[in-house]
Amino acid sequence: MKPENFQYMATLAKERSGLVLKEDKVYLLDSRLMPLARRKNIETLDEFVEAIRRNNDFNEQTEVVEALTTNETLFFRDTKPFDIFREQVMPTIFQTRTANKKFRIWSAASSSGQEPYSLVMLLDQMGSQLAGWQYEIVGTDLSMEILQKAQDALYTQFEVQRGLPVEMMVKYFEPEGPKWRFKQAYREKVKFQKANLLENQSALGKFDIVFCRNVLIYFEKETKGRVLDMIANMMPADGKLFLGGAETVLGLTDKFEAVQGVKGLYQKTG
Ligand SMILES: C[S@@+](CC[C@H](N)C(=O)[O-])C[C@H]1O[C@@H](n2cnc3c(N)ncnc32)[C@H](O)[C@@H]1O
Repeated sequence: MKPENFQYMATLAKERSGLVLKEDKVYLLDSRLMPLARRKNIETLDEFVEAIRRNNDFNEQTEVVEALTTNETLFFRDTKPFDIFREQVMPTIFQTRTANKKFRIWSAASSSGQEPYSLVMLLDQMGSQLAGWQYEIVGTDLSMEILQKAQDALYTQFEVQRGLPVEMMVKYFEPEGPKWRFKQAYREKVKFQKANLLENQSALGKFDIVFCRNVLIYFEKETKGRVLDMIANMMPADGKLFLGGAETVLGLTDKFEAVQGVKGLYQKTG
């Protein structure tokens, strides 16, 4: 790939999604962009990028940037954070929010919905504990295509088998052809909308609990810090933040600190 074309894509991806593309990622451009190129009867990556450069069309660029996102996810990914949510974070919510019995959760980078839907199932399992309580779960992502998939909530056998206990699959999903759809009554518990973490999202309101997992890993240090600061400003003083296993707040922001002894969980400082 011509260096100037690679540079153009790297700049576009970084500006529009935060994704850092190093030179060793040409294979990623190739695997993600060539399907788009072929649809336009373009045979090589260089020709495709040159067409994007020439057209300088915002929507076309958006399509390309979205195609570069990695949407890998699964139900109850990593298990432990969901145990912590159920056993440590929710009991605190039940103790501290007795006045209005309301709380809000943000799945920031919700991909195809497995993360927020896992939370819906866990909350449902809390049964009578939640009687009289109101909650809202907001799932956001940069990619419109993946948000559509989240809203459709239609998963392959492989996707439902990954991470999801069989009893949950039977209770919360219904078969549809060879696939499984998350039942409407549960689907409705999550409000999905597009939100780019590089932009100020304070219009979404305040969140007591934020899951921002496996997205900061794609950003450079300064971007990670900015996103974390924005999230901190969208949480009350006792808000809790979950990050992915390979992510941390250390050296990125002074607005969060690790909750001692609880891996992956962060709280606001001060
Ligand atoms: C690997 S998935 C993580 C999904 C889920 N949080 C998990 O841990 O399984 C990363 C998601 O981040 C989204 N993403 C990438 N850059 C983003 C940005 N700047 N703003 C919002 N979402 C972004 C991608 O579209 C993708 O769906």
